[in-house]
Amino acid sequence: MISTDFEFLAGFLKTNSGLTLTPDKAYLIESRLQPIAAKHGKGDVAGLINALRTFPTQDLRRDVIEAMTTNETSFFRDTKPFDIFKSEVLGKLVTARAARKSLRIWCAAASSGQEPYSIAILLKDDPRLAGWKIDLVATDIDTSILAKATTGRYSKFEVQRGMPIQLLMKHFTKLNDDTWEVKPEIRSMVSFRQLNLLEDFSTIGTVDVVFCRNVLIYFDAATKGGVLGKISRRLSDDGYLFLGGAETVLGVSDAFEPSTGNRGLYVKPQRLAQAA
Ligand SMILES: C[S@@+](CC[C@H](N)C(=O)[O-])C[C@H]1O[C@@H](n2cnc3c(N)ncnc32)[C@H](O)[C@@H]1O
Repeated sequence: MISTDFEFLAGFLKTNSGLTLTPDKAYLIESRLQPIAAKHGKGDVAGLINALRTFPTQDLRRDVIEAMTTNETSFFRDTKPFDIFKSEVLGKLVTARAARKSLRIWCAAASSGQEPYSIAILLKDDPRLAGWKIDLVATDIDTSILAKATTGRYSKFEVQRGMPIQLLMKHFTKLNDDTWEVKPEIRSMVSFRQLNLLEDFSTIGTVDVVFCRNVLIYFDAATKGGVLGKISRRLSDDGYLFLGGAETVLGVSDAFEPSTGNRGLYVKPQRLAQAA
């Protein structure tokens, strides 16, 4: 790929999705964009980038962005954050929200749905939340991956990645040898919608917990800081933010501080100050 095409594509992705495309990731371009070039009748990736530069349709722009996102995920990914969510976070919120008996949770890079369905299963099985109103919103930039998430259908391989057998038996229906479907009572707890973290997300309203895991790693420091600042404005003052294991707020944003002893969990700084 000629360097002017690479630079144009890198700029397009950075502006529209936040993805920082570095030269060491150039190998991804051919494999991910060739099918999009064929779909749109542009011949090859050079033709596709030329179309993107000159008269891009909305569909072409969307397909390029979605092809370049990485949707890697699994049920109960990394295990520990879900243990912390159940013990530490829900423990505190059940007390703090006892009067109103409602919780709002936002999963901000939901991919194919394994993360929000894992959260929904924990909430459903928690006797402390019986009778509570739970609002679980799951968003992603990628409309095609959200379409998969909405079906709640997973292959045997996908469910074997992280879903404990007892929870699989309890909350999924086996449709055939290779397909399992999340039961309607869990599916109905999650509302999926498209949302780009670079754009305004005030429509999310105020939430008690945000899961924004394994997406900031693709952004540069300024973009990460901007997204964290906007998340902070959506989170209640005593709310909680989960980031991925390779992500941190340190040196990126002062909108959050790590929660001591709870790796991957972040809180707003003023609460720490008030508690002191
Ligand atoms: C690696 S997956 C992480 C999924 C899940 N949070 C987890 O930790 O398993 C990253 C997701 O972020 C989404 N994404 C990338 N850029 C985004 C943006 N600007 N706004 C919203 N979602 C974005 C991708 O489409 C992808 O589904």
